[in-house]
Amino acid sequence: MRSHYCGQVNEDHLGQEIELCGWVHRRRDHGGVIFIDLRDREGLVQVVIDPDTVEAFATAERVRSEYVLKISGLVRGRPEGTINPDMATGKIEVLGRNVEILNAAETPPFPLDDEREVGEDVRLKYRYIDLRRPQMLRRMRIRSQVAGTLRRFLEDNGFMEIETPILTKSTPEGARDYLVPSRTHPGEFFALPQSPQLFKQLLMVSGMDRYYQIVRCFRDEDLRADRQPEFTQLDIETSFMSEEQIITLTEQMIRELFAKVLEVPLHDPFPRMSYDEAIDRFGIDRPDLRIPLELVDVGDVMANVEFKVFSGPAKSADGRVAALRLPGGCELSRKEIDGYTKYVSIYGAKGLAYIKINDLDAGREGLQSPILKFLPDDAVTAIIERTGAQTGDLIFFGADRASIVNEALGALRVKLGHDRGLVERGWRPVWIVDFPMFERDEKNDRWTSIHHPFTSPKVDDAAALAADPGGAKSQAYDLVLNGTEVGGGSIRIHSAEMQAEVLKLLGISDEEAEAKFGFLLDALKYGCPPHGGLAFGLDRLVMLMTGASSIREVIAFPKTQTAACVLTNAPSPVADAQLKELGVRLRKPPVAEEKS
Ligand code: AMO
Ligand code: AMP
Repeated sequence: MRSHYCGQVNEDHLGQEIELCGWVHRRRDHGGVIFIDLRDREGLVQVVIDPDTVEAFATAERVRSEYVLKISGLVRGRPEGTINPDMATGKIEVLGRNVEILNAAETPPFPLDDEREVGEDVRLKYRYIDLRRPQMLRRMRIRSQVAGTLRRFLEDNGFMEIETPILTKSTPEGARDYLVPSRTHPGEFFALPQSPQLFKQLLMVSGMDRYYQIVRCFRDEDLRADRQPEFTQLDIETSFMSEEQIITLTEQMIRELFAKVLEVPLHDPFPRMSYDEAIDRFGIDRPDLRIPLELVDVGDVMANVEFKVFSGPAKSADGRVAALRLPGGCELSRKEIDGYTKYVSIYGAKGLAYIKINDLDAGREGLQSPILKFLPDDAVTAIIERTGAQTGDLIFFGADRASIVNEALGALRVKLGHDRGLVERGWRPVWIVDFPMFERDEKNDRWTSIHHPFTSPKVDDAAALAADPGGAKSQAYDLVLNGTEVGGGSIRIHSAEMQAEVLKLLGISDEEAEAKFGFLLDALKYGCPPHGGLAFGLDRLVMLMTGASSIREVIAFPKTQTAACVLTNAPSPVADAQLKELGVRLRKPPVAEEKS
C-alpha cells in the first residue's frame, strides 16, 4: 500500500512519486490550500493539497484528526522560508495528488502531542491511542532494542533461550501468588511463576549450561512506580561459573547494552560495595550514588549524653544513632523541617533532631538546635568534625532501632537529594555483594532468606552455617543503578546436605519442603553441577534508560496501581457455570450477582 514511511521521506526523494499511509496528525486550511501533517510510526510529513486536484481536495476537506489516509504525491522542496529545522522531514513536503480515506475516526479522547498532561486513567483506557504519541513510540522502540541487544549478546556468548511453564507451582520469591484453578483437578490450583527460579536450576541439572529467557513473572504484591503484578525479567542461569565470572559477564552485557542503545559508556568495571557498607553509608541496599549525602555513625558520641532518646539506642545492641549532613541546609525553614519530620515518620522514626550550623566560628552561639541543650561541648565538636559540617549546613539525626534509622534516614537522603537539586547527572551502577544469608523475623522467632532459600552461603559446610546463621554471608549479588535495583541473583546450593540445612534453619519442615519443592531437592541428588545466575528487571532497565518515571510508562499494556486493567476491565466477574466447572464457589458473591 505504501512506498515509504511518512517520517522517512527526505531530500533523497525529491522529484519522486511516493505513496504514504498514516494518520492525520493535523489539518490546516490556508487560503485555498490544505495542509495535512500525516503521521506514522516513523514520524510526520507535511502534505499539501491544491484545489487544482479537485477530487483530492474535496476528500481532504472531509478529513479530520486521526483519520487513516492513503496519499500519493510528489516529493518537492519546501519553498524558501517555510523550511522547518525542527522536523526530520522539514526540508520537503509532499504535493498530494490522490487522497483516499482508509478509515474515519472519532475525535480522540485526548490530544496526541506530548506537551499536554493527560490523566493516566484516560491514557490507559485508550492505551492504543496513547501509544501513538511520539514519546510512547520512542519508549516501545527502545524496549525492543534493549531486548534485541540483550538477546544478541547472550546468543553470542553461548546462551540458549529456553521457555519454562507459566502454569506451575508456587516459586518462593517472597510475594503472594496468582492462582489458577484447575478444571481437570477440582479443588487444586496452579500458581503463576514469580520467577522461573526452580526450572532454571533444573535446566542446569539437565546440562544446558547457559540458559536465558525473557520471561513474564507474576507477583501479587503492593504496587509502586517500579513494581507491576506482571513484569518481565531477563532471566539467566549458568553452570560451572563463579560469582566473580557471572558478575563480570553480565556487567559486560549491561555495558554493551548502554553503549549500543544509548551510546553511553558506563564505568568499567562497575564499583562493588558490601551490603554492610551500603547500609552504613546510605541506610539501604540500593544506594543512589548520584546523591552526595551520607549517613555517619555518631552512636559512640551519644552514648553518654543526657538525652535518653539518643543515649538509649546508642547503647543498645540493635540501636543506631546516625547523622546526615545537608550542605546549605540552614536555608530550610521550620515548616520544611517539620515536613521532613513527618516524612521520616512514615518509616517509623519518632522524630528528626537537627543542628543548624549558622556560624561555625561562633561556638555554641553559632548553632541552632532543639537538642543543643542536651549535648556537651565535646559531643558537639565530635559531631561537627565527623560530619565535616561547615557554616550554612544542617545536620539531621536519627536515633532508634537500626532498621528504623536506616530506612528513615536512607529515604530522607534520597528525598533531600531530589528536593534540593543535589542529584548528579549520569549513570552510577554499583554491585551490592556480601549479603547476609538470613534476616531475623522476630515476630515469628525464625530466620528468613534475604534472597531465596536456594542461595548458597559463603561457608562450605552445613555445620559451619548452623553454628552462626546470623553471621553468615551469602553468595548473592544485586546490581543497583541510580538507586533502583535492576537485577539480582546468586550462586545456588548444589549440595543436598547444605540445602537441607538451610531449609531447616528457615523452619521449613521436611514434609513442607517435600510438598513445595521436593522435585528440586530430588534433582540435587542426580548430578547437579555447581550453578548460579541472576535476573534483571527488563521494565526497570527500560524505565531508567528512557528516563520514564514509572515502569507503567514502558509497558505497552500495564496494570493500574490497584492491579487492574482499565482497558479490558480485567479482572472481572465470571459466569456461575464457569465457576461450577472449575469447582470454585465464591465466599462472597460480587455485588452485581447478589442482586440477580
Ligand atoms: P528478584 O526477585 O530479585 O530475583 O527479581 C529480579 C529482578 O526483577 C525485577 N523485579 C520487578 N520488576 C517489576 N515489578 C516487580 N514486581 C518486580 N519484582 C522484581 C527487579 C529485580 O532485581 N529468581 C531470582 C533471580 C535469581 O536469583 O536468579 C529473582 O526473581 O529488577
Ligand atoms: P523532644 O524532646 O521529643 O521534643 O525531641 C527533641 C528533638 O529530638 C526534636 O527535634 C525531635 O524531632 C527529635 N527526636 C525525637 N525523637 C527522635 C528520634 N528517635 N530520632 C531523632 N530525633 C528525634
